[in-house]
Amino acid sequence: MSAAGVQIVRTTKELRSIVAAWRRDGHGVALVPTMGALHAGHLSLAQEALKRSSRVIMSIFVNPTQFSADEDLDSYPRTFEDDVDKFASAGGHLIWAPTPSEMYPEGFATRIVPEGAANGLETDVRPHFFGGVATVCCKLFTQTLPDFAIFGEKDYQQLSVMRQMVRDLDLPLEIVGCPTVREADGLAMSSRNAYLSNDERKAAVAIYTAITDVAQQIELGADIDGASQSARQALQAAGFGQIDYVAVRDAESLEAVTSVTDRPLRVLAAAWLGKTRLIDNVAAGPGSSR
Ligand code: PAJ
Repeated sequence: MSAAGVQIVRTTKELRSIVAAWRRDGHGVALVPTMGALHAGHLSLAQEALKRSSRVIMSIFVNPTQFSADEDLDSYPRTFEDDVDKFASAGGHLIWAPTPSEMYPEGFATRIVPEGAANGLETDVRPHFFGGVATVCCKLFTQTLPDFAIFGEKDYQQLSVMRQMVRDLDLPLEIVGCPTVREADGLAMSSRNAYLSNDERKAAVAIYTAITDVAQQIELGADIDGASQSARQALQAAGFGQIDYVAVRDAESLEAVTSVTDRPLRVLAAAWLGKTRLIDNVAAGPGSSR
């Protein structure tokens, strides 16, 4: 138990007994999965969780299986004490912070392989990623047995993969998506923004501007390929290096689209600014509320 009254739990056994006692007392449970380094985006998910359930669990686990060997597992920001304080101030109840060996004990050998919404985009450049995310989230769901699991639209493809996994595997919980929380200039909040230099930070907003422009162009009748190509040029002009993708997808299935129909769309982009990889997305097409 921390000074602020948030319970910090590190073993599945203890977690299960606390959640079982909550259930006996008639509480509902919502889970907010995170890798820590909390910012206002994560806390907005905790707020949504508190609206839906009388008990809120935040998991803080930097999941090794979603990082490839050349990614930032070792340098990923870890600010646990600070995270506990922030979660306590938000009114949360329990932090589930298993060690890697509690999550993946000796002999662990089972993996979820998501397809569908996981195809393309992030998977084209990070083929290991959604297998790692889906496996750890499936475990987080069965460990905490929540009524709701709350995810950010910031990682839109991840949110879609979660919805698909819960549907496909009949997992008895509801996935809830929350809008992206942004800095004053529009840059989506991200734990990885901490890697940006001052100059990079100023340039970073171009990713949001570029995808917002694509959405506006589409609404004005421009063709999808042309609008996406202009966005790539704008990113290069702003100092971005490698552009992993600027893509327009069906907002629900995430299937590629070549022309505008009456279905809602999503504009998604991932690009590198120096050594930092940024991703962002916005709604487009019918029903988009920008
Ligand atoms: P992490 O990057 O810590 O993000 C945790 C949750 O916070 C995700 O659902 C993410 O979409 C959401 N989030 C991040 N930035 C946000 C913002 N600016 N506004 C709103 N929500 C935001 O995503 C992961 O961790 C991991 O892949 C995880 C799901 C925990 C599995 O390991």
